[in-house]
Amino acid sequence: MKVLVTGGLGFIGSHTVIKLIEAGHQVVIIDNLFNSKPDVVDRIDKIVGVKPKVFIQDVCDKDKLMEIFKAEKPDAVIHFAGYKAVGESCQKPLMYYRNNIDSALSVLECMMENECKNLVFSSSATIYGETDKMPITELSPRKEATNPYGQTKVMIERIIEDVCKVNPDFNAALLRYFNPIGAHPSGLLGEDPNGLPNNLLPYINKVATGELDHLNVFGNDYPTVDGTGVRDYIHVLDLAKGHVLALKKLENGCGLFVCNLGTGKGTSVLEMVSAYEKATGVKIKYEIKPRRAGDVAESYAATNKAKEELGFECDYTILDACKHGYEFQKANKVELKCTKNN
Ligand code: UFG
Repeated sequence: MKVLVTGGLGFIGSHTVIKLIEAGHQVVIIDNLFNSKPDVVDRIDKIVGVKPKVFIQDVCDKDKLMEIFKAEKPDAVIHFAGYKAVGESCQKPLMYYRNNIDSALSVLECMMENECKNLVFSSSATIYGETDKMPITELSPRKEATNPYGQTKVMIERIIEDVCKVNPDFNAALLRYFNPIGAHPSGLLGEDPNGLPNNLLPYINKVATGELDHLNVFGNDYPTVDGTGVRDYIHVLDLAKGHVLALKKLENGCGLFVCNLGTGKGTSVLEMVSAYEKATGVKIKYEIKPRRAGDVAESYAATNKAKEELGFECDYTILDACKHGYEFQKANKVELKCTKNN
């Protein structure tokens, strides 16, 4: 298939491009470099020996996107492009609503006008809101999200559902990610958040390389195994593989398909610290701090649907993810620092 990947130079996007090329798909990338770097395409080339065509372009610009659709005629779209920082979305809600909703509408309108009938959408477990019932199945109700970023995922899921209702031959996979971590084992691709990391693993990576002094553990009084928050951490390459499997499902004409992508296993913050130390041999200094607003005690996926309907299984462990994340951070530390100081 010819697959248009929006946000294809980003963290999850770039790993998915690798898996798509390895599976024999032809890839075209659109990315506006808001949260990514142009040399990612050279790194993709180094890993798979193919340099996909890249349009440095904002997906919100529907006229430009339309030109790309007309020229490239993709069979499918994987839509990653979007803002993703929970905290920033609370500070700048309009920026998040405008960008994330506009980009999804542009993609869908261009798909409709160009008879492109297969869409994979990068959704999130955030759409389940606060829920006590673990593991979280796809039948758990979609709730109001606790922040504007999550709210855009809820809204885009609804928009896609409505499009599917009136277009019976349109196929869409809503993939609800749990917590993506890790990096490509080559050390060439990984997560490089702008500014101080919000997420656990990018933060631990910087403690490990000495860029940050210690990890703040947000709360140790949750009703969990050791009092710290429990999440379902999935290696980004496993997540990427899930997209390739979802495309196969779409190719067979599945209509609307909703699926969790996680490992099914919960890991606490302190368990993650131990795993990281074991995988890398580096000691992670931490301090216990009060709970972070908006956090839930635990969240992990029911994985039977992904297994039964996609044949999805994880290839990597949390230890692999810690090791690969650390290798990427070490290999790119100087470069990342220079970029940030510029
Ligand atoms: N945590 C710390 N210290 C840190 C960062 C995180 O203790 O410096 C803890 C959190 O309190 C939580 C766990 O580590 O218990 C995971 O936190 P993350 O910020 O890494 O991930 P979240 O589960 O909060 O958020 C993720 C994605 C969001 C998505 C959300 C719900 O980052 O995009 O899952 O699916 F919305």
